[in-house]
Amino acid sequence: MAEYKLRVSQPVQAAINAATRLCAVYGSPIGHSASPAMHNAAFAALGLDWRYLAFEVDPKNLRTAIAGARAMNFAGLNLTVPHKLLAVEMVDELDGSAKKWGAVNTIKFQPEGVIGFNTDADAITQSLREDLKLEVRGAKVLLLGAGGAGRTAALKLAAENVAELFLVNRTQSKADEIATEIKTQFPSVKISVGYPKENLDLLLNATSLGLKVDDASPLDEKQFSLKQARAVYDMIYRPAETKLLAAAKTAGCKTANGLGMLLHQGAKAFEIWTGKPAPLDVMRRALEQNIYGH
Ligand code: ATR
Repeated sequence: MAEYKLRVSQPVQAAINAATRLCAVYGSPIGHSASPAMHNAAFAALGLDWRYLAFEVDPKNLRTAIAGARAMNFAGLNLTVPHKLLAVEMVDELDGSAKKWGAVNTIKFQPEGVIGFNTDADAITQSLREDLKLEVRGAKVLLLGAGGAGRTAALKLAAENVAELFLVNRTQSKADEIATEIKTQFPSVKISVGYPKENLDLLLNATSLGLKVDDASPLDEKQFSLKQARAVYDMIYRPAETKLLAAAKTAGCKTANGLGMLLHQGAKAFEIWTGKPAPLDVMRRALEQNIYGH
């Protein structure tokens, strides 16, 4: 009975029919994606006859999978690991956002072709602003990680005129490559590879360390003490509090996890597809319910 009450209190969507617009996320692995919960709640809240699905897509099938969705008149797609770079070559046109960051996480199918967008980069600064009250312009930042997420974060921070950016990655050559790219594109930003000695405004984790309970910390505390950072942001949102965030809290830092980033990249994709303002509160609640169960 309680369960029944809970269900009827949610907005009810009309039955699926031939007019239902479809969106989907492609990734590998995709099993734990919270995007269907977030977008379906948003469609329902706005009374849209739209649905959002999730598909495990092997990178070797990505081109065919994009063409298949187009052929079946999907409205759009999200792409997640490991598809964001590959897709740059698989769309007809890159929006300015995808050109700028060199990665596609959102696709819109238009009659004239397949358009690739990137909504990840803006979501980073929006979440930092909302969740940490931090403006990156003029800030000193240590960024851990130089994979896909780390690269987008580094470029976005540089584009927003951070005062100084320190990059640290297990594979140093990848951090070096990003530093070189930033020196060319954003010559006014001071960038170096390695841990800083001074105090910072922000430590940002963009590595995948912390996803598993027995993961080591992405931070070498012998090289950098958390007491040197005013705020710590972990792009990981599952678990809600990584060991890094727990240690940062103990050290007196302001902290936030990556849920806000997930929310804002989704909200921007929603607006690209539907042309309607995203119901942010509904989407945030759906994410929290799906990921944390409350
Ligand atoms: P994403 O798209 O989420 O950024 P990715 O491109 O695979 O995924 O990047 C993962 C990041 O986590 C990289 O910075 C990676 O370091 P390497 O570039 O050296 O691979 C980092 N990472 C993953 N496992 C790690 C580990 N065990 N120790 C240290 N760093 C790790």
